[in-house]
Amino acid sequence: MIHIREDLRQKVLRMSERLTDEAIARALNLTEEAVKDIREGDADIEEIENPAVKQNQPPAVIINTKKPTFRQKVISVWRAKGGVGCSAVAMNLARQVADSVDSVALIDLNFQVGPPDLTYYMDLPAAPTMYNFKQGDGIESFYRKENNLFVLQAPHNKYQLEKTTETVNEVCAFSRKVFDAVIFDLPNTEDDYVREAIEHSNTVVMAVEGTSAEMIRLEIKAKNFKNKDKIVLLKNDDDTGRVKEVLETHKVIKIPNDKHLGEALENQAFARRNSPFNKMISQLKDEIYEYKSSGLLNKIGFSKLRQSR
Ligand SMILES: Nc1ncnc2c1ncn2[C@@H]1O[C@H](COP(=O)(O)OP(=O)(O)OP(=O)(O)O)[C@@H](O)[C@H]1O
Ligand SMILES: [Mg+2]
Repeated sequence: MIHIREDLRQKVLRMSERLTDEAIARALNLTEEAVKDIREGDADIEEIENPAVKQNQPPAVIINTKKPTFRQKVISVWRAKGGVGCSAVAMNLARQVADSVDSVALIDLNFQVGPPDLTYYMDLPAAPTMYNFKQGDGIESFYRKENNLFVLQAPHNKYQLEKTTETVNEVCAFSRKVFDAVIFDLPNTEDDYVREAIEHSNTVVMAVEGTSAEMIRLEIKAKNFKNKDKIVLLKNDDDTGRVKEVLETHKVIKIPNDKHLGEALENQAFARRNSPFNKMISQLKDEIYEYKSSGLLNKIGFSKLRQSR
């Protein structure tokens, strides 16, 4: 037993060189707190309860699988105000992340009656949608937009989904198993299924315009993601200090006013590669992937991004 536990400690330490606590916890069937305690040397290793060991089963170590967890990001793009560019950010971020990882799922949770914005912006067919996922179609319900960029559309009529929160939970669990990166385009609401997506995310990107009413709502929303990596995209420079204080983050990226963006979306295209909007997205991607960059990440193209800072 001691041997197993010492082995566990070594494993956590090795994994922590590249992985987040959340990923290690998931892989080793431990709580995040236990991982943190082991990592920081605060834990009496004999006291750590590993449920997998308890049940006499080997821990599920998934670090060597084809889709390694160390690269996995689950990103929510959210806001406290409509029309701040949330869908444009989610869509263009998904394309840029797809340049660097094997598979990206872009998931639209803007449930309404009629096709949502992403469906138009990305010129997606009427089906498949999340309704097909609910019917049990699994990976078939994701539309392959480009080589490694997959989109799960919101249903084209929200009333097609009865148990929305349950479905979103299933979608999140499925996507986390299958894709290297998962990106949610979230609506400007506080519905339970929105919270469900936030729960599953390790990174929250907030698109902010900077108005006073928005700031009050932001403060309330911020309670939902105390433990997440937070990045703020801000339209109005004057409010940087206030936004930092409200969201308790130091990462604020300025959203440029890109006069060609509307035209691109209207023409069902991604933002141009060298456009101001896309440069901002590139900075965002760099922030999201920066914090645990290891040699392995360098191999998949992030070293260049980091050097350019
Ligand atoms: N940085 C920007 N520069 C110029 N126009 C922008 C910018 N960001 C967004 N827009 C414009 O604002 C409009 C709304 O963008 P988008 O649909 O991405 O916002 P949203 O927050 O998802 O909106 P909704 O609340 O409807 O979901 C689009 O016409 C887009 O071109
Ligand atoms: Mg939108």
